[in-house]
Amino acid sequence: MFRKIAISAVSALALTTGIAFAAGEGGETENHAFSFEGPFGAFDEYQLQRGLQVFTESCSACHGLKFVPIRSLVDEGGPHLPEDQVRAYASQFTVVDKETGAERAALATDNFPANTGVGAPDLSLMAKARAGFHGPYGLGINQFFKGMGGAEHIFSILTGYTGETKEEAGTTFYENTAYSTGWIAMPPPLVADLVTYQDGHEASIHHMAEDVSAFLMWAAEPKMMARKQAGLKAVVFLTLLAGLLYLTNKRLWSGVKGKKIA
Ligand code: HEC
Repeated sequence: MFRKIAISAVSALALTTGIAFAAGEGGETENHAFSFEGPFGAFDEYQLQRGLQVFTESCSACHGLKFVPIRSLVDEGGPHLPEDQVRAYASQFTVVDKETGAERAALATDNFPANTGVGAPDLSLMAKARAGFHGPYGLGINQFFKGMGGAEHIFSILTGYTGETKEEAGTTFYENTAYSTGWIAMPPPLVADLVTYQDGHEASIHHMAEDVSAFLMWAAEPKMMARKQAGLKAVVFLTLLAGLLYLTNKRLWSGVKGKKIA
């Protein structure tokens, strides 16, 4: 009986580690220091603005961002653009009005359009969806210790092209060291100087990838700053409370604990 249980436990373990191994293989996600990492990290609004530009001029050709309200570009802690600029920005997209069913220019109150034309996934939540599962055995340990998350994954994909291509069943695949299978159907979306940054930032592939990854992290978690601030307050409060409770406890039991039992 015991042997049977032991054998099935061992084989179950072998199976699960085997599967985890498969998940950890393939995509090599590189660590990268983003401004929003760590307990005090914050989004850099200029970086988010540059990332928005890269998204608009490259990624939006194939990808949608359908869960992100355009008006949130005004938000403090986000790209923090002036309202009139956001209204002007919105008007370049065409959306189908939910009430009339007719096409019209988007307003700031609309979401970014969806885009399923070439079968590219929506990027609204990509930075959260790809947050973990790298590190040894795909356990997500790197996220915990190095703060590596979805932004790193996107950055690694954008900079992970080797230049090799292959054709399979009529589709071209591009070799990419960060993609799980090693071959991605997305053609390299960035080339040097693809965009012209207004702040004079160099538009190298590295910089554009960094900026758009930060922007997509914000898109997936726009309230990250608020969450971190609330967390910090909670930790400070709980530390104070723990100190007070310790003193109260001491005081309450002082009569009993101080007594010598004869
Ligand atoms: C020419 C169209 C096209 C453009 C432009 C494009 N993508 Fe893609 N993207 C795709 C397709 C198609 C896929 C699905 C790839 C697959 O399934 O192999 C994809 C997949 C992705 C993925 C998912 C990777 C994963 O882990 O599953 C990310 C992230 C991504 N794109 C980011 C971007 C970013 C950021 C940009 C802009 C800098 C961009 N893409 C521009 C077509 C495009």
